Amino acid sequence: MRQAGRYLPEYREVRQQAGGFLNLCYSPELACEVTLQPLRRFDLDGAILFADILLIPQAMGCELDFRENEGPVLGKIGSSRDVARLASGIGDLNKTLSPVYDAVSLIKANLDSDKTLIGFCGAPWTVATYMIEGGTSVERASSRLAAFANEDWLNLLIEKLVASSIEYLAGQVEAGAEVLQVFDTWSGDLSGELLDRYCFAPIAAIRSELKKRYPHVPVIGFARGVGVSQTDFVDACDIDGVSIEWAVNTKWARRNLTDRCVVQGNLDPLCLIGGGDGMFNATKLILDDLPMERHIFNLGHGIRKETPPEHVTDLVSFIREFDGAARP
Ligand code: CP3
Repeated sequence: MRQAGRYLPEYREVRQQAGGFLNLCYSPELACEVTLQPLRRFDLDGAILFADILLIPQAMGCELDFRENEGPVLGKIGSSRDVARLASGIGDLNKTLSPVYDAVSLIKANLDSDKTLIGFCGAPWTVATYMIEGGTSVERASSRLAAFANEDWLNLLIEKLVASSIEYLAGQVEAGAEVLQVFDTWSGDLSGELLDRYCFAPIAAIRSELKKRYPHVPVIGFARGVGVSQTDFVDACDIDGVSIEWAVNTKWARRNLTDRCVVQGNLDPLCLIGGGDGMFNATKLILDDLPMERHIFNLGHGIRKETPPEHVTDLVSFIREFDGAARP
């Protein structure tokens, strides 16, 4: 959940040197460096590739820019003609994405063997919303309207994103990624049959193809905001782990999810800004509810840039001590 990033002064320095976020993503040496920065500071179990879910739209031919204090800006997609122009063949994609695979190989070569390297991509629905809205949007109204209307161009866009995501994740595995995570940040936009069609079915298609090619590589899913449909998510997508946002009740997760798969989460990243007892108490509630052998401790969403790095140090030592002493 953005363990590399702007809360670390050493990240800000490299980012400035690179001349922007995208340059960082496409420079294997620098992407490797910022991926490893948090592991030098904190006693973590894994590294997550430094990249972004919006590199796929860019590789498909969509314009992409990250502006200071504005977030991502994309060329908008909203018709069959727009979608027809997008590439999804492996050759086209890899022209843009090969530096990401080089970054994975470099990270793997420089990572201690007891640390896990996680690769990732965005889920088709979430990535589609950024392409349709042209960036971050509060309501994602055009995307939801297209889903309600069962627009052909949306269905084709999702199909192309499924194909691209499979090749992108396969490229990461070939380069050394050991676990994959699929982020569906905006799956809470949909429910019922539309949630199945636009969120679960595309992730299930990605998962099943990866299982065929790499049966040993576990996949973690993150379907934010789907509430009680988390159980359907795990069942429909055949995932090995489910990452839950901070709003999910961990007692509910214990009753409904830990028998199905491993649960990852779910501290509110805001706790890390306050630190101290507020953070420790919230952490203890999670550790008490979720059994150690079925739980990967993580945040419930991306770390905030105002986070004091010392609070992350405190959090990790609290968890290590707790695991050593109090958990079954
Ligand atoms: O350390 C890691 O977690 C790995 C790298 C990673 C990033 N983005 C780097 C990043 C991962 C896994 C992501 C996923 C991602 N990107 C998601 C899904 C997870 C989530 O947060 O819900 C989404 C929706 C995006 C799209 C995205 N990328 C947005 C909306 C933004 C702007 C928001 C912001 O904080 O400025 C980004 C930029 C981004 N991606 C940053 C980082 C470290 C900040 C970039 C910078 O200015 O340096």
